[in-house]
Amino acid sequence: MHDQAARLRERLQRSVQTRPTRLVTVTSGKGGVGKSNFTLNFALGLMEKGQKVVIFDVDLGLANLDVLMGISPKMHLLHLLEPDRTIWDILEKGPNGLEFIAGGSGFTQILQFDDQKLDTLFSRLEHLQGYADTVFFDTGAGISHESLRFMLSSDEVLLVTTPEPTAITDAYAVIKMIHSKNPHARIRLIINRVGSRQEGKNTADKLSLVAKRFLGMEIGTLGYIPDDASVSKAVKQQKPFFLSYPNSQAAKGIRELVDAYLDNAARNPQNDGGGLRGFLSKMKNLIR
Ligand SMILES: Nc1ncnc2c1ncn2[C@@H]1O[C@H](COP(=O)(O)OP(=O)(O)O)[C@@H](O)[C@H]1O
Ligand SMILES: [Mg+2]
Repeated sequence: MHDQAARLRERLQRSVQTRPTRLVTVTSGKGGVGKSNFTLNFALGLMEKGQKVVIFDVDLGLANLDVLMGISPKMHLLHLLEPDRTIWDILEKGPNGLEFIAGGSGFTQILQFDDQKLDTLFSRLEHLQGYADTVFFDTGAGISHESLRFMLSSDEVLLVTTPEPTAITDAYAVIKMIHSKNPHARIRLIINRVGSRQEGKNTADKLSLVAKRFLGMEIGTLGYIPDDASVSKAVKQQKPFFLSYPNSQAAKGIRELVDAYLDNAARNPQNDGGGLRGFLSKMKNLIR
């Protein structure tokens, strides 16, 4: 009884907050370039600045945000289809109260859903509208139709690459693919594992120059994250480096990216891409 009252109170509190939510897809061309580590630690960096963040783990093959946080989620996306489930039941809590949803293989299965099932799922997801400042989708690597749906439905794509030539060419392939479906898509680069700021800048310049010259597309840069042994150490300890090594070069890099992101968000207030509701309706059109 007491439990139920507490839950109701929590739901009411949550439903009165309302913010213009940014929907951001984090992706890459090549795998293993640091998408999940970026997403997790960047989210923690934003939270440190008082932002409300939710991460959606939608890496279909290798959902591993939970492993990076050292927790095992009890609920995943498809539990939302059970009778009387709400979005708050499937929001899992990680370190520092970071909220995330484990996608599991849910998004591949959705494609086989009939309209009624899809409507149930999406209308329940919609309750997250206005809850967070940013919702991140941590996708798998490469050019899959699943990842593309997220990229095309989001307000923005954060494209992670390293300075390695193979990662750069694969990142360019992603830019080309997004451009072919939406030439006005908003893409910003994150150059991870840089040996120096100059190396980061050279990599970003190279990619944006090629995108500009061959596609006529303007690509932004969010920033660079140094190559830092603390990242791998933290991964082995299953703790985010932003928390276990707050003074590491990688954590400092994340803080710079957070400042750049917030600064940009303040200068370009969300001129309503429709928030989560808009995202879900775009997604639905791409599925059907
Ligand atoms: N900035 C970094 N410095 C050093 N190693 C890194 C850095 N970022 C990522 N790594 C290494 O790359 C591995 C893969 O990172 P991960 O975030 O899982 O990539 P993805 O999600 O793109 O597959 C990590 O386990 C870590 O060892
Ligand atoms: Mg990953």
